Parts: sequence; structure tokens; C-alpha cells
Amino acid sequence: MMQDTIRLTVNGRCHDVAVAHDTSLLYVLRNDLALNGPKYGCGLGECGACAVLIDGVAARSCVIPVGGCIARDIVTLEGLGSREQPDAVQQAFIDEQAAQCGYCLNGMIMTAKALLTRNPHPSETEVLEALRYNLCRCGTHVEIVRAVLRAGQTSSAGS
Ligand code: FES
Repeated sequence: MMQDTIRLTVNGRCHDVAVAHDTSLLYVLRNDLALNGPKYGCGLGECGACAVLIDGVAARSCVIPVGGCIARDIVTLEGLGSREQPDAVQQAFIDEQAAQCGYCLNGMIMTAKALLTRNPHPSETEVLEALRYNLCRCGTHVEIVRAVLRAGQTSSAGS
């Protein structure tokens, strides 16, 4: 398959990658840019584990061709905060111990981030609605919802 050089902006940095246009964004993030926050779950756009922000909107990177991401602003989990300085959403998940195996957390956090950016103080119903299509097989939903509500109490969570 023919490869092109594609310029991507990820976490505020420019990257040139030599890949086919129809390669999934998830593969490029993980394999070419070593950004392993986004996870491969279903590969079908159904579980949410691979979520990233594209122009501030939560998107499922496993079904997005990288060729469609040129000149878009992509943010991965790594772009939110660091181990030393987690952002407010990440900190809320830590405070609520909202993880068991942790595989879904990338998607939960990125989807919550997008929600809190457009709605900084969501109700429980709004949180449930936003996370409705993000799957967690451990059953950590109660703690996850609590974490997003906690993040919503921190006024800078969506910034
Ligand atoms: Fe992308 Fe499941 S891996 S939605």
C-alpha cells in the first residue's frame, strides 16, 4: 500500500509520519508516536477504549483513518497531565479509585474531559448519558461516575 508523509498535531506537537492514509489513527498514535494511552479494545468503534480528543470532541481513534486527521488538533491521554501533575479529571479518578483493570480508563477519562469542556458541572444523568457507550467489564461504573462528578466540582476540570 502506498505511503505518504502525513503531518499530525498531537498534544500540541507536530509529527510527520509515513503511513497509508487509511491507517487507523489508533495504530499511528501507538505504533509510530509511542502514545499508548489510547487502547485497542474492539477495533470497531464500539467500546470507547481508544478515545482521543479531536478538536475537543471525543472520537474513537480505531475507526478514524489518519488521513482525515490532517490539520486537526489531536489530544491523547498523555496530553492531559503527567504522573507528577495529573489534570483535574485524572486526579478525580485517582481520588475516587475509579479503576480495576484500568483498560477502559483512557476512554472514560477522554470522554469525561470532552463532557466537562462543554458542560463544566454536569448532573449525574448527564454523566451517565455521556459515558453510556464506554464499556467497562469490571463493573467500576459507580466509582467512574463519582469521579466525573468530582471533577465537575473542580471549576478548572474542563480547561
Ligand atoms: Fe476503538 Fe473499541 S477500540 S471503540
